[in-house]
Amino acid sequence: MTLLLSRDDVANVLTMPDCIAAVEGAFAALARGEADMPQRAVIKVPPHHGLFLGMPAYLGGDAEALGLKLVTVYPDNPAKHGLATTLGTLMLCDPRTGAVTAIMDAGYLTAVRTGAASGVATKFLAREDAAVCVVFGAGAQARQQLVAVNHVRPLRKAYVLDVNAEAAAAFARDLGEQLGLDVEAVDDAEAAVRGADIIVTASSSPTPIFDGDWLQPGTHINNIGSHAPTTRELDTKTVVKSYFVADLREANLAEAGDILIPMEEGAVTADHIAASLGEIVTGTKPARTDAEQITVFKSCGLAVQDVSTAVAVAKAAREKGVGTEVAL
Ligand SMILES: NC(=O)c1ccc[n+]([C@@H]2O[C@H](COP(=O)([O-])OP(=O)(O)OC[C@H]3O[C@@H](n4cnc5c(N)ncnc54)[C@H](O)[C@@H]3O)[C@@H](O)[C@H]2O)c1
Repeated sequence: MTLLLSRDDVANVLTMPDCIAAVEGAFAALARGEADMPQRAVIKVPPHHGLFLGMPAYLGGDAEALGLKLVTVYPDNPAKHGLATTLGTLMLCDPRTGAVTAIMDAGYLTAVRTGAASGVATKFLAREDAAVCVVFGAGAQARQQLVAVNHVRPLRKAYVLDVNAEAAAAFARDLGEQLGLDVEAVDDAEAAVRGADIIVTASSSPTPIFDGDWLQPGTHINNIGSHAPTTRELDTKTVVKSYFVADLREANLAEAGDILIPMEEGAVTADHIAASLGEIVTGTKPARTDAEQITVFKSCGLAVQDVSTAVAVAKAAREKGVGTEVAL
């Protein structure tokens, strides 16, 4: 039988702490060479400004997982169609037989697993005393980013900035209530960046959203929004002055304008990528080395995050009797 899970079903059983644990394990397995994950297939849909991404992965080791996520990114969706920018569906298979064991909505799952990767990065790279987080972008990803950051570094204050003031106000209200945290919508990017311990860039902006000169020593940045060679949220100054950690070096070099554009400009070489996150998790490469270091985690999003999260979702759903079993 195949378990069908709607977005609400996934939201009912998936928690950020469980997801952070699953995703941290997946990054470690990837670094140990226990995963098979081809670079994702990206299809452009130019008339509709859309991207269609096919993301398969096999994860070996203790938490074995096999599956494929189809995710689409359509920035015009919210305004034109009343739909989320990022939509997804995931097919999970039995690694022993290849049979499809679950099909689930992966829109919410994507936001949570993307938050979880930033949670893992923040745990290893942010200062222990980090207490103020600034979030650029107030969309679906940004919400789970703040949830994850607050889980690994309980915050004193968060600020949110968005070109859409209504979205920023709704974010501040909702996340303030959800996390019991002081979250304020602001529009002075320079003041926010100068006061930040942790910065999240989770916007749909194709060009840099703050000036790297504003960064204070010791800041950690989770850079998750852009994932095309020609788009970026960070400027070259930010990248040059940072200890730069990729989710996966190969994925960053295939997709991440945040590192590829400074490379094209001759400001850095590929060696500027100090580590893949899994190497930090497994201790092969150092995490933050001092309180002054500026650290960047560049996330493009990896299929191992999806399949590891989906295994946790399917297990919890079956235990709780959530979802519908069907014969395909
Ligand atoms: N790294 C990953 O694994 C991963 C996963 C999913 C999505 N994404 C990417 O994350 C980005 C956000 O996705 P989403 O689903 O939250 O989209 P969304 O449309 O829900 O939210 C994006 C927000 O960014 C705001 N924005 C645009 N330009 C801005 C600027 N200059 N400053 C501040 N805010 C700005 C928009 O107004 C919007 O509110 C997209 O680019 C998406 O492709 C990355």
